Amino acid sequence: MLLPPKTVDVTLDLRAMTISDANAVAALFQSAHADGGAGGWKTRDITRVLDEGGAGVIAFAPGLTGPAGAILAMRTGADMDIINIAVGDAFRRRSLGRHLLKLLASQAENCSYERILLEVADDNTIAKAFYEAMSFTTVGTRPAYYPRDGYRVDAKIMARTLDNLL
Ligand SMILES: CC(C)(COP(=O)(O)OP(=O)(O)OC[C@H]1O[C@@H](n2cnc3c(N)ncnc32)[C@H](O)[C@@H]1OP(=O)(O)O)[C@@H](O)C(=O)NCCC(=O)NCCS
Repeated sequence: MLLPPKTVDVTLDLRAMTISDANAVAALFQSAHADGGAGGWKTRDITRVLDEGGAGVIAFAPGLTGPAGAILAMRTGADMDIINIAVGDAFRRRSLGRHLLKLLASQAENCSYERILLEVADDNTIAKAFYEAMSFTTVGTRPAYYPRDGYRVDAKIMARTLDNLL
């Protein structure tokens, strides 16, 4: 899927993620998460998720070796569980995250999911602002879930239905 130029000033190419992308996606996740958190996902973990029926979307920009952004999800019961989303620094706040989520959700619509679910660290204010802008609401908390340097922060569990996405 090619993004319309009014939202980004270069043409980004978005397509379904495949196992051959796992290495590049692991590197993107690693670089996007200073805290380790979901960035701790390795090539083998991403390969396993895709191998076991998970879904992902990856975005490329002309002239850029690695991906500009990616989102990865797996099925948990009736929910599509977002494992991670990351957008490269140079492409942030240009609606790429929104488009990655939208394309993932359009895949989910064909697979009878009831909700999209995710966990986000309570101190990740940017990601929480992003998910709230995408109409996710907090449905639970996992106390002291993510390790930090000498302490732990809560995970917020956020969810939304698939209808009227974006
Ligand atoms: C979270 C992330 C994926 C958002 O990607 P993005 O492409 O920059 O997001 P978008 O441009 O699509 O933003 C959509 C909306 O989210 C909100 N938003 C996104 N970034 C924001 C920020 N830094 N501050 C406040 N609101 C923000 C805004 O409402 C924005 O709409 P607007 O720009 O029209 O105001 C990106 O910041 C990222 O990769 N962060 C590091 C990795 C991470 O923490 N992932 C989440 C794991 S749980």
